[in-house]
Amino acid sequence: MEFDFDALPARERYKLMVSTVVPRPIAWVVTTDAEGRVNAAPYSFFGLLSDDPPILSVGIAPRPDGELKHTLLNIETRREFTVCLVSDATAEAMNVTAADVPAGVDEVALAGLTPVPSTRIGVPRIAESPVAMECVVHDRLPLGRRVAVLGRIIALHVHDDCVLDPQRRYIDTPKLDLVGRLHGESAYARIRDRFDLARPDTARITEAAAAGRPVPRTERF
Ligand SMILES: Cc1cc2nc3c(=O)[nH]c(=O)nc-3n(C[C@H](O)[C@H](O)[C@H](O)COP(=O)(O)O)c2cc1C
Repeated sequence: MEFDFDALPARERYKLMVSTVVPRPIAWVVTTDAEGRVNAAPYSFFGLLSDDPPILSVGIAPRPDGELKHTLLNIETRREFTVCLVSDATAEAMNVTAADVPAGVDEVALAGLTPVPSTRIGVPRIAESPVAMECVVHDRLPLGRRVAVLGRIIALHVHDDCVLDPQRRYIDTPKLDLVGRLHGESAYARIRDRFDLARPDTARITEAAAAGRPVPRTERF
């Protein structure tokens, strides 16, 4: 079935996008306001855009009343934020921080989480998060009602027990036990159902295609 996005209202397009583009990683964004009060909220319109410069993007919609979310207000004011990643162990706490509480309410404290000072910026990160990235604003991209904030990662923290070899930058990714957001309001997934595929053998593939033979596929392992 085809859905004509040009003919659909935004709300319907949103439903289709978030129920098909899954799982989405969750940026648990921590900011501080002009008075230094901490704010945290999850954002799953989130992804890596570039490694050099190291840029991530967070898409922030307006609040239902049309006002800016606290995260965006604070990022516009302070130009820096941390992006923490959400593990299975922190999923419920993450959900608490999505509550629509008044400006100035510290959701990190509200959720019983531990703030840790960042090393390069004035915004804390969440200690319980296995990965946290200190970011400065690289750019902002207005996209209709949303704003995509592009953050340049200037430091990345990983829980010690999830680092296999710091010199070779080997991370024990399964041990991070991150979760992703699925469809609808409430669905999440763990990343525990892994399989591997060897990179395709371009020479064998092009040779088979040229000879009219079935293109070889690598086995899962
Ligand atoms: C898992 C999850 C993902 C979310 N992703 C987004 C998102 O990508 N963009 C957005 O505007 N709101 C998103 N929200 C809603 C915000 O977290 C929510 O509006 C929050 O209250 C905003 O807080 P703030 O005003 O302190 O920034 C998400 C909520 C949850 C639970």
